[in-house]
Amino acid sequence: MPWFPLLISVALVLTFLAYLAGKRPYQSPRSVAANYDNWTRDGLLERLWGDHIHLGYYGDPPQPQDFRASKARLVHEMVHWAGLHRLPAGSRLLDVGCGIGGSARILARDYGFDVLGISVSSRQIDRARALTPAHLSCRFAVMDALAMPMEDRSFDAIWTVEAAPHIADKQRFANELLRLLQPGGQLVMADWNQRDPRHQPLRRPEQMVLNVLLEQWGHAAFASMEAVQEHLQASPYGCVNLHTADWSRATFPAWPEAIREGFRRPWAVLSLGPSAVLQGLREVPTILLMAWAWRRGLLRFGVFRAERADGRG
Ligand SMILES: C[S@@+](CC[C@H](N)C(=O)[O-])C[C@H]1O[C@@H](n2cnc3c(N)ncnc32)[C@H](O)[C@@H]1O
Repeated sequence: MPWFPLLISVALVLTFLAYLAGKRPYQSPRSVAANYDNWTRDGLLERLWGDHIHLGYYGDPPQPQDFRASKARLVHEMVHWAGLHRLPAGSRLLDVGCGIGGSARILARDYGFDVLGISVSSRQIDRARALTPAHLSCRFAVMDALAMPMEDRSFDAIWTVEAAPHIADKQRFANELLRLLQPGGQLVMADWNQRDPRHQPLRRPEQMVLNVLLEQWGHAAFASMEAVQEHLQASPYGCVNLHTADWSRATFPAWPEAIREGFRRPWAVLSLGPSAVLQGLREVPTILLMAWAWRRGLLRFGVFRAERADGRG
Protein backbone atom coordinates (compact mmCIF):
# COMPACT_ATOMS: atom_id res chain seq x y z
CA MET A 1 0.00 0.00 0.00
CA PRO A 2 2.23 2.83 -1.24
CA TRP A 3 -0.28 5.47 -0.20
CA PHE A 4 0.01 4.58 3.50
CA PRO A 5 3.58 5.89 4.11
CA LEU A 6 2.65 8.89 1.99
CA LEU A 7 -0.38 9.56 4.19
CA ILE A 8 1.69 9.27 7.37
CA SER A 9 4.34 11.61 5.92
CA VAL A 10 1.73 14.19 4.95
CA ALA A 11 0.15 13.96 8.43
CA LEU A 12 3.55 14.43 10.08
CA VAL A 13 4.42 17.41 7.90
CA LEU A 14 1.01 19.03 8.51
CA THR A 15 1.33 18.44 12.25
CA PHE A 16 4.78 19.97 12.34
CA LEU A 17 3.65 23.00 10.30
CA ALA A 18 0.59 23.46 12.52
CA TYR A 19 2.84 23.20 15.59
CA LEU A 20 5.24 25.84 14.31
CA ALA A 21 2.51 28.17 13.05
CA GLY A 22 0.18 27.81 15.99
CA LYS A 23 2.04 29.19 19.00
CA ARG A 24 -0.24 30.59 21.67
CA PRO A 25 2.01 32.83 23.76
CA TYR A 26 0.63 34.55 26.84
CA GLN A 27 -0.18 38.21 26.23
CA SER A 28 -2.82 39.03 28.82
CA PRO A 29 -5.78 37.36 30.57
CA ARG A 30 -7.65 38.09 27.33
CA SER A 31 -5.34 35.89 25.31
CA VAL A 32 -5.82 33.13 27.90
CA ALA A 33 -9.59 33.58 27.64
CA ALA A 34 -9.42 33.37 23.84
CA ASN A 35 -7.43 30.11 24.01
CA TYR A 36 -9.86 28.47 26.42
CA ASP A 37 -12.84 29.79 24.43
CA ASN A 38 -11.41 28.05 21.35
CA TRP A 39 -10.57 24.85 23.20
CA THR A 40 -14.12 24.77 24.58
CA ARG A 41 -15.78 25.63 21.26
CA ASP A 42 -14.10 22.88 19.25
CA GLY A 43 -15.07 20.25 21.87
CA LEU A 44 -11.91 18.18 21.42
CA LEU A 45 -10.56 18.61 24.95
CA GLU A 46 -13.88 17.70 26.54
CA ARG A 47 -14.35 14.68 24.27
CA LEU A 48 -10.99 13.29 25.32
CA TRP A 49 -10.50 14.58 28.88
CA GLY A 50 -14.09 14.83 30.09
CA ASP A 51 -14.98 17.75 32.34
CA HIS A 52 -11.60 17.94 34.11
CA ILE A 53 -8.88 20.00 32.44
CA HIS A 54 -6.13 18.85 34.77
CA LEU A 55 -3.77 15.93 35.23
CA GLY A 56 -4.86 12.67 36.80
CA TYR A 57 -3.61 11.09 40.02
CA TYR A 58 -2.24 7.56 39.60
CA GLY A 59 -0.88 6.87 43.11
CA ASP A 60 2.67 6.82 44.36
CA PRO A 61 4.02 4.48 43.08
CA PRO A 62 1.68 4.91 40.11
CA GLN A 63 -0.80 2.17 39.21
CA PRO A 64 -2.71 1.73 35.94
CA GLN A 65 -6.00 3.55 36.04
CA ASP A 66 -8.80 4.76 33.81
CA PHE A 67 -7.79 8.11 32.26
CA ARG A 68 -10.88 10.02 33.38
CA ALA A 69 -11.20 8.31 36.76
CA SER A 70 -7.64 9.45 37.55
CA LYS A 71 -8.75 13.07 37.10
CA ALA A 72 -11.68 12.75 39.50
CA ARG A 73 -9.30 10.98 41.88
CA LEU A 74 -6.96 13.97 41.88
CA VAL A 75 -9.81 16.10 43.23
CA HIS A 76 -10.51 13.65 46.08
CA GLU A 77 -6.78 13.29 46.87
CA MET A 78 -6.43 17.07 47.13
CA VAL A 79 -9.54 17.39 49.31
CA HIS A 80 -8.21 14.82 51.77
CA TRP A 81 -4.62 16.05 51.68
CA ALA A 82 -5.82 19.56 52.57
CA GLY A 83 -8.41 18.35 55.11
CA LEU A 84 -11.28 20.04 53.25
CA HIS A 85 -13.50 16.99 53.94
CA ARG A 86 -13.57 18.07 57.59
CA LEU A 87 -15.29 21.37 56.79
CA PRO A 88 -19.04 21.46 57.50
CA ALA A 89 -21.54 21.11 54.67
CA GLY A 90 -22.52 24.50 53.28
CA SER A 91 -19.01 25.94 53.65
CA ARG A 92 -18.38 28.54 50.95
CA LEU A 93 -15.68 27.49 48.47
CA LEU A 94 -14.25 29.51 45.59
CA ASP A 95 -12.73 27.58 42.65
CA VAL A 96 -10.34 29.99 40.89
CA GLY A 97 -9.84 29.00 37.24
CA CYS A 98 -12.64 26.43 37.31
CA GLY A 99 -12.53 25.24 33.69
CA ILE A 100 -15.89 23.70 32.80
CA GLY A 101 -16.63 22.94 36.42
CA GLY A 102 -15.51 19.30 36.85
CA SER A 103 -13.92 19.91 40.27
CA ALA A 104 -16.63 22.36 41.36
CA ARG A 105 -19.36 19.77 40.80
CA ILE A 106 -17.49 17.10 42.79
CA LEU A 107 -16.86 19.58 45.62
CA ALA A 108 -20.55 20.51 45.76
CA ARG A 109 -21.96 17.01 45.23
CA ASP A 110 -19.60 14.85 47.32
CA TYR A 111 -18.52 17.30 50.05
CA GLY A 112 -21.55 19.59 50.34
CA PHE A 113 -19.74 22.84 49.59
CA ASP A 114 -21.50 25.94 48.35
CA VAL A 115 -19.26 26.56 45.35
CA LEU A 116 -18.55 29.56 43.17
CA GLY A 117 -16.35 28.72 40.17
CA ILE A 118 -14.73 31.49 38.17
CA SER A 119 -12.89 31.44 34.88
CA VAL A 120 -11.66 34.11 32.53
CA SER A 121 -13.21 32.18 29.60
CA SER A 122 -16.90 32.94 28.96
CA ARG A 123 -17.28 29.81 26.83
CA GLN A 124 -16.07 27.69 29.72
CA ILE A 125 -18.55 29.33 32.06
CA ASP A 126 -21.42 28.73 29.61
CA ARG A 127 -20.38 25.09 29.36
CA ALA A 128 -19.95 24.75 33.14
CA ARG A 129 -23.49 26.06 33.66
CA ALA A 130 -24.88 23.71 31.01
CA LEU A 131 -23.22 20.68 32.64
CA THR A 132 -24.32 21.48 36.20
CA PRO A 133 -27.62 20.06 37.50
CA ALA A 134 -29.87 22.69 39.07
CA HIS A 135 -29.98 20.97 42.45
CA LEU A 136 -26.21 21.38 43.00
CA SER A 137 -25.11 24.37 45.06
CA CYS A 138 -22.68 25.41 42.40
CA ARG A 139 -22.58 28.74 40.54
CA PHE A 140 -20.21 30.06 37.92
CA ALA A 141 -19.06 33.51 36.81
CA VAL A 142 -16.70 34.98 34.24
CA MET A 143 -13.95 36.76 36.15
CA ASP A 144 -10.26 37.50 36.06
CA ALA A 145 -8.47 36.03 39.07
CA LEU A 146 -6.61 39.30 39.54
CA ALA A 147 -9.78 41.42 39.45
CA MET A 148 -12.23 39.60 41.68
CA PRO A 149 -14.80 42.02 43.09
CA MET A 150 -15.81 39.92 46.11
CA GLU A 151 -15.27 41.34 49.59
CA ASP A 152 -12.37 40.28 51.80
CA ARG A 153 -12.98 37.12 53.84
CA SER A 154 -15.88 35.93 51.66
CA PHE A 155 -14.93 32.21 51.57
CA ASP A 156 -14.16 29.36 53.95
CA ALA A 157 -11.97 27.62 51.38
CA ILE A 158 -10.22 28.51 48.15
CA TRP A 159 -9.41 25.90 45.54
CA THR A 160 -7.27 26.45 42.46
CA VAL A 161 -5.95 23.74 40.14
CA GLU A 162 -3.47 24.39 37.32
CA ALA A 163 -4.60 27.98 36.78
CA ALA A 164 -1.49 29.62 38.29
CA PRO A 165 0.81 29.07 35.24
CA HIS A 166 -1.51 31.41 33.31
CA ILE A 167 -1.12 34.23 35.85
CA ALA A 168 1.74 36.66 35.33
CA ASP A 169 1.74 38.48 38.67
CA LYS A 170 2.24 35.61 41.09
CA GLN A 171 2.49 37.78 44.22
CA ARG A 172 -0.80 39.50 43.45
CA PHE A 173 -2.39 36.12 42.80
CA ALA A 174 -1.25 34.82 46.20
CA ASN A 175 -2.54 38.01 47.84
CA GLU A 176 -5.95 37.70 46.17
CA LEU A 177 -6.36 34.05 47.21
CA LEU A 178 -5.59 34.86 50.85
CA ARG A 179 -7.60 38.11 50.83
CA LEU A 180 -10.79 36.27 49.99
CA LEU A 181 -10.35 33.68 52.75
CA GLN A 182 -11.85 33.89 56.21
CA PRO A 183 -9.19 33.95 58.94
CA GLY A 184 -8.47 30.26 59.52
CA GLY A 185 -9.91 29.45 56.09
CA GLN A 186 -8.13 26.87 53.95
CA LEU A 187 -6.34 27.44 50.66
CA VAL A 188 -5.54 24.45 48.46
CA MET A 189 -3.68 24.88 45.24
CA ALA A 190 -2.10 22.73 42.53
CA ASP A 191 0.46 24.32 40.24
CA TRP A 192 3.02 23.39 37.60
CA ASN A 193 6.32 24.49 39.07
CA GLN A 194 9.70 24.79 37.44
CA ARG A 195 12.89 23.76 39.22
CA ASP A 196 14.19 26.66 41.28
CA PRO A 197 17.08 28.17 39.27
CA ARG A 198 18.56 29.55 42.52
CA HIS A 199 19.37 25.97 43.55
CA GLN A 200 20.33 24.60 40.14
CA PRO A 201 20.60 27.01 37.22
CA LEU A 202 18.66 26.07 34.11
CA ARG A 203 20.75 24.77 31.26
CA ARG A 204 20.19 26.27 27.83
CA PRO A 205 18.22 23.30 26.40
CA GLU A 206 16.08 23.24 29.55
CA GLN A 207 15.28 26.94 29.20
CA MET A 208 14.43 26.38 25.53
CA VAL A 209 12.01 23.59 26.44
CA LEU A 210 10.40 25.73 29.13
CA ASN A 211 9.95 28.54 26.60
CA VAL A 212 8.16 26.18 24.21
CA LEU A 213 5.94 24.93 27.03
CA LEU A 214 5.08 28.49 27.99
CA GLU A 215 4.22 29.67 24.51
CA GLN A 216 2.31 26.59 23.32
CA TRP A 217 -0.43 26.68 25.96
CA GLY A 218 -0.61 30.36 26.85
CA HIS A 219 1.28 30.13 30.11
CA ALA A 220 2.62 33.39 31.55
CA ALA A 221 5.34 31.87 33.75
CA PHE A 222 6.10 28.82 35.85
CA ALA A 223 6.98 29.71 39.45
CA SER A 224 9.18 27.36 41.45
CA MET A 225 7.60 25.66 44.46
CA GLU A 226 9.90 27.73 46.64
CA ALA A 227 8.72 30.97 45.01
CA VAL A 228 5.05 30.05 45.52
CA GLN A 229 5.72 29.55 49.22
CA GLU A 230 7.54 32.86 49.40
CA HIS A 231 4.63 34.65 47.71
CA LEU A 232 2.13 33.15 50.15
CA GLN A 233 4.32 33.99 53.13
CA ALA A 234 4.86 37.56 51.91
CA SER A 235 1.13 38.26 51.57
CA PRO A 236 -0.14 41.07 53.78
CA TYR A 237 -3.20 38.92 54.57
CA GLY A 238 -1.08 36.48 56.55
CA CYS A 239 -0.46 32.83 55.81
CA VAL A 240 0.03 30.09 58.41
CA ASN A 241 0.31 26.31 58.44
CA LEU A 242 1.76 26.27 54.95
CA HIS A 243 2.53 22.75 53.65
CA THR A 244 3.67 21.61 50.24
CA ALA A 245 4.12 18.32 48.45
CA ASP A 246 5.51 17.23 45.11
CA TRP A 247 3.03 14.98 43.28
CA SER A 248 5.06 14.70 40.08
CA ARG A 249 5.44 10.92 40.34
CA ALA A 250 1.72 10.37 40.96
CA THR A 251 0.71 12.60 38.03
CA PHE A 252 3.42 11.66 35.51
CA PRO A 253 1.38 8.86 33.78
CA ALA A 254 -1.23 11.50 32.82
CA TRP A 255 1.11 12.69 30.03
CA PRO A 256 1.60 9.43 28.09
CA GLU A 257 -2.00 8.50 28.89
CA ALA A 258 -3.21 11.74 27.26
CA ILE A 259 -1.71 10.52 23.98
CA ARG A 260 -2.89 6.92 24.40
CA GLU A 261 -6.43 8.14 25.09
CA GLY A 262 -6.59 9.52 21.54
CA PHE A 263 -5.75 6.07 20.17
CA ARG A 264 -8.04 4.24 22.60
CA ARG A 265 -11.02 6.30 21.51
CA PRO A 266 -10.16 7.48 18.00
CA TRP A 267 -13.82 8.09 17.15
CA ALA A 268 -13.97 10.83 19.80
CA VAL A 269 -11.52 12.79 17.65
CA LEU A 270 -12.43 11.55 14.15
CA SER A 271 -16.10 12.40 14.61
CA LEU A 272 -15.19 16.07 15.08
CA GLY A 273 -13.69 16.23 11.59
CA PRO A 274 -10.24 16.70 10.01
CA SER A 275 -9.41 19.96 11.77
CA ALA A 276 -9.89 18.27 15.18
CA VAL A 277 -7.57 15.45 14.08
CA LEU A 278 -4.92 18.00 13.13
CA GLN A 279 -5.55 19.93 16.33
CA GLY A 280 -5.12 16.74 18.37
CA LEU A 281 -1.92 15.80 16.56
CA ARG A 282 -0.43 19.25 17.00
CA GLU A 283 -0.63 18.90 20.81
CA VAL A 284 1.42 15.69 20.80
CA PRO A 285 4.90 17.34 20.73
CA THR A 286 3.95 19.62 23.64
CA ILE A 287 2.67 16.66 25.65
CA LEU A 288 5.91 14.75 24.97
CA LEU A 289 7.97 17.75 26.06
CA MET A 290 5.86 18.03 29.20
CA ALA A 291 6.56 14.37 29.96
CA TRP A 292 10.29 14.97 29.43
CA ALA A 293 10.25 18.02 31.73
CA TRP A 294 8.36 16.02 34.41
CA ARG A 295 10.79 13.09 34.24
CA ARG A 296 13.78 15.40 34.50
CA GLY A 297 12.39 17.34 37.45
CA LEU A 298 12.40 20.49 35.34
CA LEU A 299 8.66 20.85 35.91
CA ARG A 300 6.85 19.50 38.96
CA PHE A 301 3.30 19.10 40.12
CA GLY A 302 3.35 21.18 43.30
CA VAL A 303 0.48 21.11 45.78
CA PHE A 304 0.11 23.70 48.52
CA ARG A 305 -2.16 24.08 51.49
CA ALA A 306 -2.26 27.00 53.87
CA GLU A 307 -4.56 28.90 56.17
CA ARG A 308 -5.16 32.59 56.26
CA ALA A 309 -3.87 34.02 59.51
CA ASP A 310 -6.10 36.38 61.43
CA GLY A 311 -3.95 39.13 59.90
CA ARG A 312 -5.44 42.54 59.47
CA GLY A 313 -4.71 42.71 55.74
C1 LIG B 1 -5.70 24.09 33.01
S1 LIG B 1 -7.25 24.84 33.19
C2 LIG B 1 -7.78 24.13 34.72
C3 LIG B 1 -9.27 24.16 34.86
C4 LIG B 1 -9.83 23.57 36.13
N1 LIG B 1 -9.18 24.07 37.30
C5 LIG B 1 -9.78 22.07 36.11
O1 LIG B 1 -9.02 21.56 36.91
O2 LIG B 1 -10.49 21.44 35.32
C6 LIG B 1 -6.82 26.51 33.69
C7 LIG B 1 -8.03 27.35 34.05
O3 LIG B 1 -7.58 28.61 34.57
C8 LIG B 1 -8.37 29.63 34.01
N2 LIG B 1 -7.65 30.90 34.07
C9 LIG B 1 -6.45 31.19 33.54
N3 LIG B 1 -6.12 32.48 33.77
C10 LIG B 1 -7.13 33.00 34.50
C11 LIG B 1 -7.39 34.27 35.06
N4 LIG B 1 -6.53 35.27 34.94
N5 LIG B 1 -8.53 34.44 35.75
C12 LIG B 1 -9.44 33.44 35.89
N6 LIG B 1 -9.25 32.21 35.37
C13 LIG B 1 -8.11 31.99 34.69
C14 LIG B 1 -8.65 29.16 32.60
O4 LIG B 1 -9.72 29.87 32.04
C15 LIG B 1 -8.94 27.69 32.88
O5 LIG B 1 -10.27 27.56 33.30
